Amino acid sequence: MSIHSANRTASDRTTELQEKEPRELAQPAFPTQFESPFSDEFVQFAQTITKGEFETIRAFAFKHAGIAIADYKQNMVFGRVIKRLRALRIPSITDYLEHLDSPNGHGEIQFLVNALTTNKTSFFRESHHFVHLTETFFPEKISAIRAGAPGRIRLWSAGCSSGEEAYSIAMTSLSSLAAPAAMHRNIDLKILSTDIDTHILEKAKSGIYPADHLDDIPERLARIYMRRVKNDEALCSVRDFVRDHICFKYLNLIGEWPMKGPFDAIFCRNVVIYFNKETQRVLFDRFAEMLPLGGYLYIGHSESLHRVSERFENIGQSIYRRVI
Ligand SMILES: C[S@@+](CC[C@H](N)C(=O)[O-])C[C@H]1O[C@@H](n2cnc3c(N)ncnc32)[C@H](O)[C@@H]1O
Repeated sequence: MSIHSANRTASDRTTELQEKEPRELAQPAFPTQFESPFSDEFVQFAQTITKGEFETIRAFAFKHAGIAIADYKQNMVFGRVIKRLRALRIPSITDYLEHLDSPNGHGEIQFLVNALTTNKTSFFRESHHFVHLTETFFPEKISAIRAGAPGRIRLWSAGCSSGEEAYSIAMTSLSSLAAPAAMHRNIDLKILSTDIDTHILEKAKSGIYPADHLDDIPERLARIYMRRVKNDEALCSVRDFVRDHICFKYLNLIGEWPMKGPFDAIFCRNVVIYFNKETQRVLFDRFAEMLPLGGYLYIGHSESLHRVSERFENIGQSIYRRVI
């Protein structure tokens, strides 16, 4: 240990950590008795991951998130776990796994789950689903409301990542409902948006994105529902009256669900691609229970219910209706 590093206090080290890793501010303070072996200023971090370490992390991802990691993703897993080692200044993956398994490591579980999720998303991704909402879902719903059905509309973005999917649903909904809402004041639209990744959910809640993401939003909708952030031309924001219709919540799809539903439609896109068939079977069965007969389910372009669920019929490009 260098004289310089020996004289540094724990709080100095905490400050340095926070400056280096602003993302990790919520990290619980590292216990002092755990610091000594790892507190040198210069830390040589693991250069690779062993098969055994990979297997342990793979089992962790499956147990805590239902994520089934393929064999060939060993390097990807290493890249994600090394970020946690750096954040905690733990040199080796073995030490990290020991920490994770110890009573002091309980708070680390969520950080590792966050690190292992893949959050790729964008506004109006797979735009045919939003065309379906506009041309089929809402006209059907509005006719039913005109015929006397309640004005309650409930949609769920399950695995919403940084929120672009939920905001795209909200913009499409508000645009479809603009004229009918003026006639039917009883329309009540709510979009539940859930994810297992607590870090990405904070981003989703903020509703703030790089300004070039506006290019993904149809121009007319961007004009009405988005705005530039004051004093920062590089950012744009979802308008408050859009956000008011969305409730962002932590929810593990393989865990308990506190809500009862029913939902009129569920978006679960590019999420089950990370699950095995058995997890998918259970999940789609639970989704069916959350939808009325005829309720819609939208899934990702590379996902399918073929041989996974009999409870839905395919009615278009990755669009399903509950039939049983
Ligand atoms: C690739 S993103 C898809 C985002 C969006 N649905 C889309 O299609 O653009 C997958 C999301 O699923 C979430 N996820 C993975 N496992 C989950 C689980 N067990 N429960 C809830 N969300 C999960 C991840 O955190 C991630 O944000």
